[in-house]
Amino acid sequence: MASKLWEKNITVNTDVEVYTVGRDREMDMYLARFDVLGSLAHITMLESVGLLTADELKALTDELRDIYSVIERGEFVIEPDVEDVHSQVELMLTRRLGDTGKKIHSGRSRNDQVLVDLKLFMRQRIEDVTRAVASLFATLLDQSERYKEVLMPGYTHLQVAMPSSFGLWFGAYAESLVDDLTVLQAAYRVADRNPLGSAAGYGSSFPLDRSMTTRLLGFGSMNYNAVYAQMGRGKTERIVAQALGSIAATVGKLAYDACLFNSQNFGFIKLPDQYTTGSSIMPHKKNPDVFELTRAKCNKIQALPYEITLITNNLPSGYFRDLQLVKENFLPAFDSLIDILTMVDRMVAEIKVNRDILDDPRYDLMFSVEEVNRLVAGGMPFRDAYKKVGLDIENGNFVPCKSVHHTHEGSIGNLCNDRLRAMFDKTLDAFGFDACHNAFAALLGRND
Ligand code: ARG
Repeated sequence: MASKLWEKNITVNTDVEVYTVGRDREMDMYLARFDVLGSLAHITMLESVGLLTADELKALTDELRDIYSVIERGEFVIEPDVEDVHSQVELMLTRRLGDTGKKIHSGRSRNDQVLVDLKLFMRQRIEDVTRAVASLFATLLDQSERYKEVLMPGYTHLQVAMPSSFGLWFGAYAESLVDDLTVLQAAYRVADRNPLGSAAGYGSSFPLDRSMTTRLLGFGSMNYNAVYAQMGRGKTERIVAQALGSIAATVGKLAYDACLFNSQNFGFIKLPDQYTTGSSIMPHKKNPDVFELTRAKCNKIQALPYEITLITNNLPSGYFRDLQLVKENFLPAFDSLIDILTMVDRMVAEIKVNRDILDDPRYDLMFSVEEVNRLVAGGMPFRDAYKKVGLDIENGNFVPCKSVHHTHEGSIGNLCNDRLRAMFDKTLDAFGFDACHNAFAALLGRND
């Protein structure tokens, strides 16, 4: 039987408590730092509107900064009979400061507290994901440049179709990440609006200065309407999860290509031995388990927005406890995606490509269009050239010319990797991560 922030004179049944708290103590550990930062902004604002004295603000600020250091040192715990991180931090303040600790919750509810914690968490983790994406992007572009002269077959319907190249193949995934980053940035903008001050979801009769907490927490803007601020719970997570899913879809497809191209039947690429796994029975096996698990992990991340949709879809406006469950798969997904990106980055850097693929005559027919185009360039109408090459193939007279001359933007001979790099860098710069770094440093008294 535990004591609760909200407990008055009825005691809570232990089974009910276990059921309702669920995995919140574990999940809220992801939010602890951000809970403290949100509280630092909230008390600064409370003092400015006369709800705390300057001395109380000083005492609370010192203690909260100390709790932040405890979290950083990995020593923070949510005690077994404490419901969540919000209760734990308030309890610690009250133990240290008595009544002053109890004043922190004026004009606030755990509903807007968890909202702001989640948004601060998302902003931080989106930045971490972005850095991992940037590293993989750079590796893919390097590989694209390194192997830009090496041709490979391009497929449609998994049938040999046209000449392609490793420059195109690696570069395609780099460009896919540019679009994924654009989507992630849109999600970042949604997460970058301050819900604090919406309290239980309907605002407060205290004259809260919401512009001040918005500024103090480095948010780009606020969720103005208190009811909408609460409606953002679950919606913001879903939007961010969709953006994570977009990255996961890119990486999952790359992983599948890599498994396929690594198989003996293709033999296009070789994965580094130390990144393959053996078989307990077949002595020759070097299996691409890393890419296989990557594919499955990427699929799990893509399931996340659907799970969040199902949890939140049929809720009316206003807070519901259902929302708590969104945390369980959402919060750990960032670490999972960062692990994936880091591992794939290492693998891609080590991939060796087979430079002799096209010596195999089974790929000769992919040069058929090149031959048609050569005849067209010499003056023959396209349909006649198409027919002639078709008949040559039928009669066994087709001799492929294996050099290709593709010059347009984004083709084998003109990859435009410098433009991809420029698009990526521009997107990266537009996030504006410094706003939160500076704000957090100021709240923690750590700015130089
Ligand atoms: N653990 C809760 C959650 O994540 C915190 C908010 C509690 N609010 C409430 N009205 N019970 O939703």
